[in-house]
Amino acid sequence: MGRIAVLLRRTLDKSDNSRYERACPAQAEAAAGNLGMNKIDLQGQNAVVTGAARGIGFAIVQRLLASGARCSLWDVDREALNIAMSSLDEQGEFDMQAVDITRPDAVGAATDSTIRRFGSIAILVNNAGIAGVSKKLWECTPEEWFQVLNLDLYAVYLCCHAIVPKMLEKKYGRIVNIASIAGKEGNPNASHYSAAKAGVIGLTKSLGKELAQSGVIVNCVTPAVIETDILKQVSQEHVAYMVSRIPMGRPGLKEEVAALVAWLCSSECSFSTGAVFDISGGRATY
Ligand SMILES: NC(=O)c1ccc[n+]([C@@H]2O[C@H](COP(=O)([O-])OP(=O)(O)OC[C@H]3O[C@@H](n4cnc5c(N)ncnc54)[C@H](O)[C@@H]3O)[C@@H](O)[C@H]2O)c1
Repeated sequence: MGRIAVLLRRTLDKSDNSRYERACPAQAEAAAGNLGMNKIDLQGQNAVVTGAARGIGFAIVQRLLASGARCSLWDVDREALNIAMSSLDEQGEFDMQAVDITRPDAVGAATDSTIRRFGSIAILVNNAGIAGVSKKLWECTPEEWFQVLNLDLYAVYLCCHAIVPKMLEKKYGRIVNIASIAGKEGNPNASHYSAAKAGVIGLTKSLGKELAQSGVIVNCVTPAVIETDILKQVSQEHVAYMVSRIPMGRPGLKEEVAALVAWLCSSECSFSTGAVFDISGGRATY
C-alpha cells in the first residue's frame, strides 16, 4: 500500500484529532474548530438542503442554521435524518422530509410540504449524491451507470424544476449545486460520476443564464476529496488516487465546503451566476 493510501486509511479510520496533526497541521486546526467562522446573514431565509442527513449536506445545514436560516432537511434515509435532527437540538428552526429525490412525485410533495411549513423557499442546495462503483466504463452495468446519473444529475433537475417557480414568484432565490472536480477533469474508474457532475456544471451554467435577470442566482461548487461516508463506496485505491492529485496534500473538510456554500446562499453573492467555484486544495487548473 502506498504512502497516500496509508495516510488515508489512518485519516478515515480514526476519529481523534491526532490523525490530523500527523497528516497536516492545517487540518488539525480545522478539526479542532479553529477555522474561524465569518458571520453570514441568512436571517428570515428558508432553505432546502438535499442529502442533508450526513456528510457535506449536514455540515451545510449546521452552517445555514448558524447563519439564521430555517432549514428543511431532505434525505432518503429516514433513520439518519432522525439522528441528524436530534443532534441539531436547539440550533435553530428546521424540519425534515424523508424523500427519494429521484421521484418527481416525491419531490413535488416535499416542496409543497416545505412551503406549507415555512411559507417560501429562498435557498436550494442540491447536495445529495452517490459515488457509484469504482469500475471502468465498459465494466459498469447499465443499471450501475444509470443509478449514478439518476441521482447525481436527474434529481438536480427535478429539485430545480419543482422549486425554481416558487423562487420566481418571490423574485429571489439562491441555488447552489454540489458538483465535483471529477466533472471538470474526469476521474478514471468513475465515468458515471464524472459525467453526472459535468452535467451538473452544464446545468448550472444554463440555468444561471435563464434566470440571470430574475433575482434567482445559480452557482455550483466543485470539491475534491472531502472526508465523508461517500468515500466508503469507492475503493481505497481510488481515494488514494484522488488525494494524490491535491497539491495541499490532504482531503478537505465538510465544514470548509459549508463555508463556501453559505456565502453562495447569501444575498451578498449578487454578481455571480452560472459560475463554478473551486474547492479542491489547488487541484483545479481552471
Ligand atoms: N465527499 C467527497 O469527497 C465529495 C467530493 C466532491 C463532491 N462531493 C459531492 O458532495 C455531495 C455530498 O456528498 P457526501 O460526501 O456528503 O455524501 P454522503 O454519502 O456522506 O451523503 C449523501 C447523502 O445523500 C443521501 N441520498 C442518497 N440517495 C438519495 C436520494 N435518492 N434522495 C435523497 N437523498 C439521498 C444519503 O442518504 C446521504 O445522507 C454529493 O453530491 C457528492 O457527489 C463529495
